[in-house]
Amino acid sequence: MLQCTGNRMSLFDNATAGLKIVEKAQTFIIRMVRKFSSSAFEMSIPAAFEHFTSAVSREILSNQKTWTGDKENEGVNFVLWHCLEELEHQAICHDAYKALHTSRLRLFFSLVLWVPLSMASIYSIQLYLLHKDRVIYKPRNWMPY
Ligand SMILES: [Fe+2]
Repeated sequence: MLQCTGNRMSLFDNATAGLKIVEKAQTFIIRMVRKFSSSAFEMSIPAAFEHFTSAVSREILSNQKTWTGDKENEGVNFVLWHCLEELEHQAICHDAYKALHTSRLRLFFSLVLWVPLSMASIYSIQLYLLHKDRVIYKPRNWMPY
């Protein structure tokens, strides 16, 4: 609910106030990673995560009908374009990492560490926004699933 405090709080500020906690947690985690890890490990993070997003993208592109049915619209086109973009991200991050580092084990550990952390971060934000919009409390929104 929007609260008018007289402090000129904008609708956006009010809607995203809870996200500041998540943002602070993310900032703290990234600060600690940068403080205690090597530059090689830092570089493995995007390489590992883009590997994950490209795997999802490859699945969607390979089995497009399963994911989008027979639909053709701007939304589907945007998703397909984004999938291709994710493949490009993976190629760039992987090539850049491999140009400077050889350890595949580091990539593996980075993937094992960051994918669950990223999912927790992404889903907590999505759940918060669904809560703020009260969408999550309406059973009709869950019925198609
Ligand atoms: Fe990406």
